[in-house]
Amino acid sequence: MDRELALELVRVTEAAAVSSAQWMGRGQKDEADDAATTAMRTMFDSIAMEGTVVIGEGELDEAPMLYIGEKLGNGNGPEVDIAVDPLEGTNIVAKGHNNAMSVIAAADRGALLHAPDMYMQKIAVGKQARGQISLDDPIEKTIETVAKATNKRINDLTIIVQERPRHEELVERIRAKGARVKLFGDGDVEASIATCLPHTGIDLFVGTGGAPEGVISAAAVKCLGGDMQARLVPQNDEEAQRCIEMGLNDPKQLLTHHDLVSSDDAIFAATGVTEGELLHGVKFLGGDLAETDSIVMRAKTGTIRFIKANHHMNNKPHLLNND
Ligand code: FBP
Repeated sequence: MDRELALELVRVTEAAAVSSAQWMGRGQKDEADDAATTAMRTMFDSIAMEGTVVIGEGELDEAPMLYIGEKLGNGNGPEVDIAVDPLEGTNIVAKGHNNAMSVIAAADRGALLHAPDMYMQKIAVGKQARGQISLDDPIEKTIETVAKATNKRINDLTIIVQERPRHEELVERIRAKGARVKLFGDGDVEASIATCLPHTGIDLFVGTGGAPEGVISAAAVKCLGGDMQARLVPQNDEEAQRCIEMGLNDPKQLLTHHDLVSSDDAIFAATGVTEGELLHGVKFLGGDLAETDSIVMRAKTGTIRFIKANHHMNNKPHLLNND
């Protein structure tokens, strides 16, 4: 993949973020998601690449934009797999809460796990604990491992978990072991990334969330030098069959970081939609000006760029909606 692609992908997440931020707090999550998806789809056309969506907004027969298998880009560039989540945190935007982002991951063709849209069990840590975790370990053992790797007392560890009834027992076990729990409402890509950024104070992410978000997170964690593992959690025979069709003979196999993202050349780009711990949200500055805050990272070089940009929305009609 060439270096320019990373910066081009940020332009795509910026457009999706500006577009969906106009729906913040309106209680209409589908409209916010549509705005992000439409803007993202429009921007992809101008990018020099031969992209194929492997994680997207659905299947071709559901006829969404950015469906799995859709070809993206102008065809004059590297062959890449693309994973998109135009709006990570649809409910967040609808309610005006924190931490919604527009996200994209890209990697060499064939390097991203082709995961159906179903639940996935996940674990992520920063670089100090890389190579030492296993999703098969009981949470109590994982806590001991992370404490040792980070040179922290168990009492000082912070473990981030999505606040869902399915995680109640997990949270009880973490608390019983003595570690601290930080619960979040939505947006587990951000939670996974937080484990790799020491200033967040997050040491471990565990729990079950969306598989598409899992693959995108794995690309981000790879860029940041952390570690991640996962396991798909099919809810019925149909979902299990879906996994097999997508190339996983054993739908419940442990997926290593390499299984999730097999190339060392992966790119992750994200733009904040609402205010967050990693990125600021879109700010409308008056007139037609919108300010965005983005991150773009490349695993091969380890470069992390934070990009603040001002956009004249009148010059980019696809960014304007909700008039
Ligand atoms: P959406 O943006 O699709 O609403 O996803 C938000 C999210 O919190 C993800 O980050 C997470 O992986 C998933 O939902 C968890 O699913 P559920 O809301 O069903 O528990």
